[in-house]
Amino acid sequence: MSNERGNWGSSVGFVLAAAGSAIGLGNLWKFPYLAGKNGGGAFVIVYLSLIVILGFSLMLGEMAIGRRGKSDAFGSYNNIKKGWGFIGIFGILCCFIIYSYYVVIAGWIVKYIGMFIRGGLTEDPVTTFGNFISSGTSPIIYSFVIVVVTALIVLKGVSGGIEKASKIMMPILFVFMLIIVARSVTLPNAMEGIKYFLKPDFSQITPAVVIAALGQVFFSLSLGMGAMITYGSYLPKDTNLVKSALCIPVLDTLIALLAGLAILPAVFSFGLEPTAGPGLIFITLPKVFASMPMGNLFGIIFFVLVLFAALTSTISLLEVVVSFVVDQMKLDRKKATILVSGLIAAFAIPNSHSFGPLAELKVFFGLNFFDFLGYLTDNILLPMGGLLLCVFVGFIWDKEDIKREITNDGEVAFPFFSVWMIGVKYLGIQLLALILLQAVGVVGS
Ligand code: PHE
Repeated sequence: MSNERGNWGSSVGFVLAAAGSAIGLGNLWKFPYLAGKNGGGAFVIVYLSLIVILGFSLMLGEMAIGRRGKSDAFGSYNNIKKGWGFIGIFGILCCFIIYSYYVVIAGWIVKYIGMFIRGGLTEDPVTTFGNFISSGTSPIIYSFVIVVVTALIVLKGVSGGIEKASKIMMPILFVFMLIIVARSVTLPNAMEGIKYFLKPDFSQITPAVVIAALGQVFFSLSLGMGAMITYGSYLPKDTNLVKSALCIPVLDTLIALLAGLAILPAVFSFGLEPTAGPGLIFITLPKVFASMPMGNLFGIIFFVLVLFAALTSTISLLEVVVSFVVDQMKLDRKKATILVSGLIAAFAIPNSHSFGPLAELKVFFGLNFFDFLGYLTDNILLPMGGLLLCVFVGFIWDKEDIKREITNDGEVAFPFFSVWMIGVKYLGIQLLALILLQAVGVVGS
């Protein structure tokens, strides 16, 4: 059975694929602009604390559920405890929705690579960006490119597709990242940006900053939506889960910090504003590249690295849904991949149009389609999925059984089991309840 479902070829392959899922637009597009908007170092310090408190614990919980349940996100919960598969359904739904808007931003990246290859900006970056994203068909075609490339990789299966692609893209991503950071921190006045990014001003820490950082921890680590359950389900019984669950948050955080160091010093060096929000890498950064010697080359390197990060994440978003269709609806991988990708392509259209013809169409809460889906996933589905994950690990799943799964039947030492359990039970639940309260407007921001 497990062979039909596929297996990772090696532990390194698994760690690269899981880190690939975690490292994505969340690190390169969202983290720097959230830090820029939420007080720089203040946001970073809260984010790091939450990663330490929650990141490892929930990562370990999800991987253990997957390896024990040996199925997709729904099936794994259900195999461990009948009737609890609904938690996985939240995750699968969440991945589908995130994927449908993630491809739109990933498509913009492809466009920008093309632009830098052809010689860079031809007009003011605000105009270039605004005209492009609102232009109707063109951004949709770019998002379809992402849907097709992702599908081609997922079609090839776990070790032949996902693992192989991650083993190629992840090392290139790391090297390209180092090149960009080296360039950015050696620009004149870069120190100002480094200080803004790394020096915490504690007075800037507000409930809103904490909540923004918390949502970002879940999004960035791909937690609370079954991605690590699905990837964990392809793990052999002798993999050291504790080590893997440590490695992935470390790599993810390293890349988020490097992304901040790649972007913010460059932005400060050219006297630009770090608080631009989502346009930071599409508007502010191209301005930086345009004023820098060999800027087009650095532009290509930067956007290729963002593309690779995005692709290793879209692969995992698709895989969560495909594995559900394969395991529960008994379709073969090829049919499942084509079916899900087709649906995603259809959903990508209103998402992309939210920046153009449908910008003013308010779907819910005064938000357009794209913003509404972002709100739904970040503020409702993700915290729900995370909260239920904590409840499941902390209260439902038999303690001895969890212990056996995590320690490989006593082979791997994990002396912190009880501390970990307390962490999952109480901290997780409290923090997540906080986001939910905020989402329904009880805690103000
Ligand atoms: N973690 C990814 C990122 O930072 C996004 C993602 C979320 C991927 C959920 C898979 C599942 O971009």
